[in-house]
Amino acid sequence: MAWRLRRGLARRRKWALAAQAWLWRGHIKRLREVHTYHTPLDLVRERSPERPVALARPGVVAVAARWFQDKFQGDVFYAVKANPSPWVIKTLAKAGVTAFDVASIPEIELVAKYAPGARMAFMHPVKSRKAIAEAYRDYGVKTFALDTHEELQKILEATGGAQDLTLIVRLAVQAEGASYSLSGKFGVDLHEAPSLLLAARRATQDRMGVSFHVGSQCMRPTAYQAAMAQASRAIVRAGVVVDVVDVGGGFPSIYPGMIPPDMDDYFDSIQRGFAEMMVTEDCELWCEPGRALVAEASSILTKVELRKGDAIYLNDGSYGSLFDAAHVKWPFPVKLYRGEGRGAQEVDGALKPFRFYGPTCDSLDHMPGPFWLPEDVREGDYVEIGMLGAYGVAMNTRFNGFGDAETVAVEDAPMASMFGLAGRSIRLPREEQAEERKVVRLSRPKGAAGKKRRKR
Ligand SMILES: Cc1ncc(COP(=O)(O)O)c(C=O)c1O
Repeated sequence: MAWRLRRGLARRRKWALAAQAWLWRGHIKRLREVHTYHTPLDLVRERSPERPVALARPGVVAVAARWFQDKFQGDVFYAVKANPSPWVIKTLAKAGVTAFDVASIPEIELVAKYAPGARMAFMHPVKSRKAIAEAYRDYGVKTFALDTHEELQKILEATGGAQDLTLIVRLAVQAEGASYSLSGKFGVDLHEAPSLLLAARRATQDRMGVSFHVGSQCMRPTAYQAAMAQASRAIVRAGVVVDVVDVGGGFPSIYPGMIPPDMDDYFDSIQRGFAEMMVTEDCELWCEPGRALVAEASSILTKVELRKGDAIYLNDGSYGSLFDAAHVKWPFPVKLYRGEGRGAQEVDGALKPFRFYGPTCDSLDHMPGPFWLPEDVREGDYVEIGMLGAYGVAMNTRFNGFGDAETVAVEDAPMASMFGLAGRSIRLPREEQAEERKVVRLSRPKGAAGKKRRKR
C-alpha cells in the first residue's frame, strides 16, 4: 500500500515537473493580442485598473490539455461552453486538441475561426433544423447528439438524409457524486433507450454511439464506471453494435471545501467501465471535459467600491463572472492587493469571512461566500477571485451597463491545481480552526488539570 502510494506520488511529481517545464519553456507563446503581466500584482502596480480584468493563464490550459491527451485512453473533445474565449480555443489547438464539443452555430464559428480544421461534434440534444443544416453543409459537422425519435428525424431531414453521420444517443443515467446535477433536462430514459438506439443504428451507414453526462464537478470517480454499466445494459437490450462510447464531461476542479480525488482515479474508473462494456474491440472511447481543462486557468481581478460591515461591494458580480458564486453559492478562493504604483502589495494577515455584492442594482447580485479576506479590507483594494476559468467569463452579461471585463495574460501559478502546478487544496480558515479545536479536544492537559478532567 505504502509502496503504491510512494509510486503514485513519484509519478505525480514527475508529471508536475514535466508540466512546469512545458509551461515555463514558453511552449505556448504569449498571445500577441493579449497584454501579458508576470503576476496580477504587476498589473495592479502598472495600471490600477478601474474595470474588472479577466486574468488568463494560457500555459495552465496547455498543461491540462496535455494531461488529458496523455492519460485519457480515447479522444478528447473540449466542451466549448465552459469557456469560449478565443485565447482558450487557440491555446488548446496549439496544445494538440483537435476535437471540440459544440452546442450552437456561434460556438461552431468560434472553433472554425480559432482552431481551423478541428473536428466538431454538435452535442446539444435539441437543435434547430437551420442550425443542423448549417453545421452539416457549411462547417462539415457530421456528429450529432439526440435523445428523441423526433430529433433523429429532424437531423435526417435537415441533412437531406445524409448517410455519413455519426449519431450519438444521449442516455439519462443515474449518477451520484456530482456537485452540479445535469440530470432531468436531457437524455433518453434507459427503458426507452433501446428503441432509439435501434432507430439511430438503422439511420446511418456510418457510426453510431452512446453518451451521457454524470453531472458537473463530479466528486466520485466510480460514477463513470456505474454510468457505463447502465449504458452497456441499454446497448445489450437494444441488440445493437455501437462504435462510440462518449463519457461526457463532469471531470472536477478544486474549490474551497471541494477537493476531488486524483484525476488518474477518474481515468482508471473509465477504463474499468469500458473493459466491462459489451462493445466490440474497435469501439472508440470519447470524453468531453469542460471545467477540468479551464477552471484553474482564469481568475478575475475586481475592485472594492465600498465596504459595509462584512459586505464588500465589488465591480463584478453574478451578472459578470460570478454566476456560480451567487447561484450555486461556491466560495471561490481570494487574494487581496492594496496600493498604487510600485508601492502596491499583496495583503495578508488575520482573515475574516466576507460576502460580496456585485455592481448591478439587483439584490440577487449577491455572493454569500464566505470569502476569507484580511479583516481590514477597504475601498480601493483589489480582490482577485480564483478558479473562475470554467463557467465564469462564459456567463458574463452587460446587465445595467456592467460586465465589460478586459482580458490580460498572467504567468503565475493558479490558486490550486489538479495537474501539479500548485497545491491540491484550498483550505478554509474555518476548517483549520475546527482542526485546532479537535487537537485541543483530543490532547489531555498535562498536570493537575489533566487529572481533574480524567476523574469526571
Ligand atoms: C453535453 C455536454 N458535454 C460536456 C459538458 C462539460 O461538462 P463539464 O464542464 O462538467 O466537464 C457539458 C456541460 O454542460 C455538456 O452539456
